[in-house]
Amino acid sequence: MQRLLVFVVFSLVATAVRAQLTISGDGAVVQESIGRSVTLTCTYSLTNTYTLREIKWYSLMDGDRESVLVYYPGQSVYTYGLYRNRASLVNTDAAAQVASLRLSNLQFSDNGTYECVVGASSASGSGAPQEASAEIELVALVAPNDPVIDDDFNSVTGNLTLTCTAYTGNPAAFLTWNRDGSPISADRADNITSWRGYLDAQSTISVTASSARSSTFECVAQHPAFTSAQRASVTLGSPSVSAVSINPSPAPGQSLMELDDIILTCMTQEGIVPQPTYEWRHNAGSLPTSAQAYRNELKIFSAQVEDTGIYTCTASNSFGSDTGDASILITERVDNTPEGQTGTPAGTVVGIVIAVLAVVAVIVVIGFVCWRRRQSDELKIPPDSPEEPEAVVSTEPEEEKDEEKLNLMEEKKEEEPEEVKVETQGEGHAEVAKKPDPDQTA
Ligand SMILES: *[C@@H]1O[C@H](CO)[C@@H](O)[C@H](O)[C@H]1NC(C)=O
Ligand SMILES: *[C@@H]1O[C@H](CO)[C@@H](O)[C@H](O)[C@H]1NC(C)=O
Ligand SMILES: *[C@@H]1O[C@H](CO)[C@@H](O)[C@H](O)[C@H]1NC(C)=O
Repeated sequence: MQRLLVFVVFSLVATAVRAQLTISGDGAVVQESIGRSVTLTCTYSLTNTYTLREIKWYSLMDGDRESVLVYYPGQSVYTYGLYRNRASLVNTDAAAQVASLRLSNLQFSDNGTYECVVGASSASGSGAPQEASAEIELVALVAPNDPVIDDDFNSVTGNLTLTCTAYTGNPAAFLTWNRDGSPISADRADNITSWRGYLDAQSTISVTASSARSSTFECVAQHPAFTSAQRASVTLGSPSVSAVSINPSPAPGQSLMELDDIILTCMTQEGIVPQPTYEWRHNAGSLPTSAQAYRNELKIFSAQVEDTGIYTCTASNSFGSDTGDASILITERVDNTPEGQTGTPAGTVVGIVIAVLAVVAVIVVIGFVCWRRRQSDELKIPPDSPEEPEAVVSTEPEEEKDEEKLNLMEEKKEEEPEEVKVETQGEGHAEVAKKPDPDQTA
């Protein structure tokens, strides 16, 4: 036993003496949120017969090895491509024996593996050049969206499936479930690669709805970029209607006006599942034609006086139903003419003038028609009807106009993809412009 220990210690010392260059940092995993700065730590150690020749950093992505930074002692630090002006060395003092990389304004596209390479040459020129490298994983943290729960109820089997999703994170969120505060295991869990390589975490549980009545199911999402876990929850039960709200809500003692747009909302408790369906009635009968029901909202567009009455909402799911109502009074919109003036109101004057003009016009038309008939009787020319051909003529230009419009629209449609092409070309140019030759950073 003692002999073995002595041997181990001896071999370790021997290895250290033999290696002129050693590097540390290999296998480390570094996490940082996007937008922040991050340091990839890489240190080396040289025996005193060797001196630093170079420090190089590469990114290893999709099998490619791309230069990030190159440094030769006594020269400037060069950075490349998307790392230009973002990457730097923490310390260029050779005595410190530090090759660590600092990367500012971290991007999701920086996520990946990086390689630190240190080269050394023999001070006397007698020994062989040395090189050592270390690989470091960088995880660019992207906080996912807060979790959401979707429910899917099969009314035939009574099977209720709850799916919790936390969209677009890196890495995916870690999701767990609680039922009435106690942990339960998911029936299915997946991390799905979605938009641009972000990850959607998804977790599903299935229960027989009747056996889970009044239970609350909570989905908890944890993520290194969250300061605290994010939660979403649903409760199984029958809906209860707390109120039917009216928007705009009339002031006390006031009524709504004709032509107002009114939205009624059937308020039930948050997160009740199965998702209730809603039914609306007006004075216990069918809805006015100006009303549109969608989910728990009823929209009345350009309300009419006849739309006055009691609106009833019934929310129901497989556990039961509940009803609530709201009473609305819609009054006629009156013209806002100035009042309190003596004499005839302006509206009446205008009315009289219009009536007189109309009578005069009718008389003139009748007189003209009579005169024409008498003339045509005298000349024995059958009375023609100019209206009809005129009508045909007048419709033609409109059709042409419509055709022109269509043509214009089609032309526009055809133009659009070209515009997009131009944009992408622009971007391409921009990228090309970013890429060329290494740049200097002090
Ligand atoms: C991000 O980097 C980590 C570490 O290399 C890796 O496990 C993960 O797959 C990467 N994620 C993406 C979306 O590339
Ligand atoms: C409920 O439905 C889910 C999804 O359709 C299914 O995977 C599960 O086996 C069903 N559970 C029961 C008890 O029927
Ligand atoms: C999804 O990713 C998270 C974080 O990387 C991990 O904790 C979880 O186990 C993964 N879930 C599945 C189903 O792979």
